[in-house]
Amino acid sequence: MRFPESFIQEVVDRTDIEELVSRYVTLKRSGSNLVACCPFHSEKTPSFTVTPAKKMFFCFGCHAGGSVITFVQKAENLDFPEAVEFLANRAGLPLPKESDVKEEHGVPRRRILDANLEAAKFFRACLFDEELGREARDYLFNKRGLSEATIKHFGLGFAPNQFHMLLDYMHGKGFRDEELVAACLAGQKNGRTYDYFRNRVIFPIIDPAGQVVAFGGRVMDDSKPKYLNSSDTAAFKKSRQLFALNFAKNCSSERMILCEGYLDVIALHQAGFESAVATLGTAITPEHARIFSKYTQQVVISYDADEAGQNAAEKAMRILGDVGMEVRVLKVPDAKDPDEFIRKYGADRFRSILEESKTGFEHKADRIFSKYDLSLTSDRIRATSEICAVIADYPSAVEREIYLSDVSKRLGLPTDVLKNSVEQIRRKRARDYKATESREAQATLKNFRDTVNPEAAQHLHAAAAEEAVLGLLLLYSEYRTIVERGEIALDSTCFLTEFHRRVFEAVMELHRSEYGFRFEFLDERFTPEEVGRIKRLEVERSKLTNNGLEVFRSAVNALKNSKEKETAAEEDLTARIERLRSKKQEKQHKEG
Ligand code: GTP
Ligand code: MN
Repeated sequence: MRFPESFIQEVVDRTDIEELVSRYVTLKRSGSNLVACCPFHSEKTPSFTVTPAKKMFFCFGCHAGGSVITFVQKAENLDFPEAVEFLANRAGLPLPKESDVKEEHGVPRRRILDANLEAAKFFRACLFDEELGREARDYLFNKRGLSEATIKHFGLGFAPNQFHMLLDYMHGKGFRDEELVAACLAGQKNGRTYDYFRNRVIFPIIDPAGQVVAFGGRVMDDSKPKYLNSSDTAAFKKSRQLFALNFAKNCSSERMILCEGYLDVIALHQAGFESAVATLGTAITPEHARIFSKYTQQVVISYDADEAGQNAAEKAMRILGDVGMEVRVLKVPDAKDPDEFIRKYGADRFRSILEESKTGFEHKADRIFSKYDLSLTSDRIRATSEICAVIADYPSAVEREIYLSDVSKRLGLPTDVLKNSVEQIRRKRARDYKATESREAQATLKNFRDTVNPEAAQHLHAAAAEEAVLGLLLLYSEYRTIVERGEIALDSTCFLTEFHRRVFEAVMELHRSEYGFRFEFLDERFTPEEVGRIKRLEVERSKLTNNGLEVFRSAVNALKNSKEKETAAEEDLTARIERLRSKKQEKQHKEG
C-alpha cells in the first residue's frame, strides 16, 4: 500500500522519537542530543545519537541513521508500509482507506493479489480440465503420489503449454498487461507480452493471511529449469515467505519442520505432518528465522540427504540458532529427501525418525565422526581437532562442557585435554576477530566493500564530490531551490555513481512536490541501509563549519570536473583524439 505523503508526515509529526527509541535503549542527555549504546550493533561506549529537534537518529559507529520510520524498519524488521502502519497504530491514527490512496507509481499490491487469485483459479481449472490437464494430473497423482484432496488443499494447478492463454483469460477479467507483468504472471520481450508460466504444474504460494502472493511452477520431466518462481513483486518478497506457512502456523506450537522443496512439504502434509514448511528455493534468511520464532519453539531441519543439502542444513542451523531457536536436524536415511522417504517407508517411520532427530551439535559431531576411522591415530587426531573447533563455536560455557564430556567418551580422551584445546581455539579466534574487525573498519572507511554504493570504489574522486554536493542539498533548502531554478546548473546526469544519482533525483523530486522535501519521505524509496548512508552524508557535512554558497558552487564544479575526467577516461582512444582534434579546430577557428 502506498500512503499519501501528507499521511506519512502526520505519522512522523505525531511520533515522539525520544519516547519511541527509549523503548529499545536507555537514552542519556548530551547537549541538545540524546545518546545511547546503539541497538543495531554491539558497542560499549555510546555512539548512537538522537536529535529530537529533527526527529532523526544516527550512529557514528555503524552509520545506521534516518527518521523514526527507518528506526522502526530496522528495530522491528518491517518494510516501509509496515513501519508506517506500526507508527500510525502507536499514534492512534486511522490508516487512510485504500480507495483514498492515489497510486502514483506502479501497480497497487491489492491489484496484484486480485490478479494472483484469479490466475490461481485459472490454473486449477486447467489442471482439472479433461484434456488440458491430463498429463499434469497423471504427474501429480501417479508420479508424485498425491491425492485429490491434497491437490485441492494446496490449490495446485497447471499452466498449459501456450503463450496467451492466461493472458486472454485475465484480459477477460479486466486486467491490463502492465498489471499482469507487475504481478509476474506475464513476461514481456520485444514489446510482446506472453504467459510467464507455461507447461508447468503450479504451486500457489499463500501467505499466512490466506492471500495468493506468488507461484512456483515445476516442469513434468527432466528439462531445465526445473522450477520457475515468481520474482519479487509489490505483494511478494521471497526472503520473507515460507511455503505452506498458512497451514503450518495453526499446528506449529511445539515445532515446525523445515524442508527444501515444495513437494517435500506437500508429501509431509499429506502424511499428517502439517507443520512442514519450505523456503522458496532460496537459502534461509534471518528474516525467515524471525518468522519461525514468531510461531514456534523448535525447528527440525529436514533437507535433502546429499552433501549440498547437509551443508545447507548447517547454515540454516546457524541462522536459526542466531535468533535463539531450538534447532534439530533430521537426515532421512536411505532416501534422497523427505518426500521419497515417506513414499518408501510411510508416515510411521517418518514419525519415529522425527522423534530421534539430532540436536545441532549431535548432527555436526556425527558428520565429523562418520568421515574418520577412529581406530587410526592420524584420523583420531583430525577428528579431535575438527570437533574441538565445532565446540569452540558455542558461546555458552555450560553447553561446551556438556559436549566435551560427550565427545571425550567417543574419542577416548580425557575431558581436560579436549577442554584445553577448545579454550585455545577460542582465544585465537578472539584475537583474529579483533584484527579483522579493525581491518574491516579501515576498509569501510576507504569505501572498499561498499554495498550501498559499490561504484564509489572505482570513482573515488567523483563519489567524494557527489557526497559534498548531496550533503549540502540535504542540509539546506536554499540550495535545492537554487538548483531547481537553474541558478546553478546541476542535473542527474552530472552524477557518476548510480546510488548518488538516485539520491539526487529523489531529493529534487521531493523538493518540487506538494509537500516539499522531508527526510522521512526517503524511507519509501530507499532501504534502511541506504537511508543510513544518506543520513551520514548529511551528518558528515553538518560537522564542517563553512557551508556557504561559494562552497556549494565549488562542490558542484568539482563534481562536474570529476565527471568529465572520468568520462574521458572511459571513452576509447579514437573518440578522445577526435574530441581533442575538434576542440583544437574550434580554438583555431576562434583565434583565426
Ligand atoms: P522434486 O525434485 O521434484 O522432488 O522437487 P523438490 O520440490 O523436492 O525440489 P528440489 O529438492 O530439487 O529443490 C528444492 C527447491 O528449490 C524447490 O522446491 C524449488 O523451490 C527450488 N528449486 C529447485 N530447482 C529450481 C530451479 O531450477 N529454479 C528455481 N528458481 N528454483 C528451484
Ligand atoms: Mn524433492
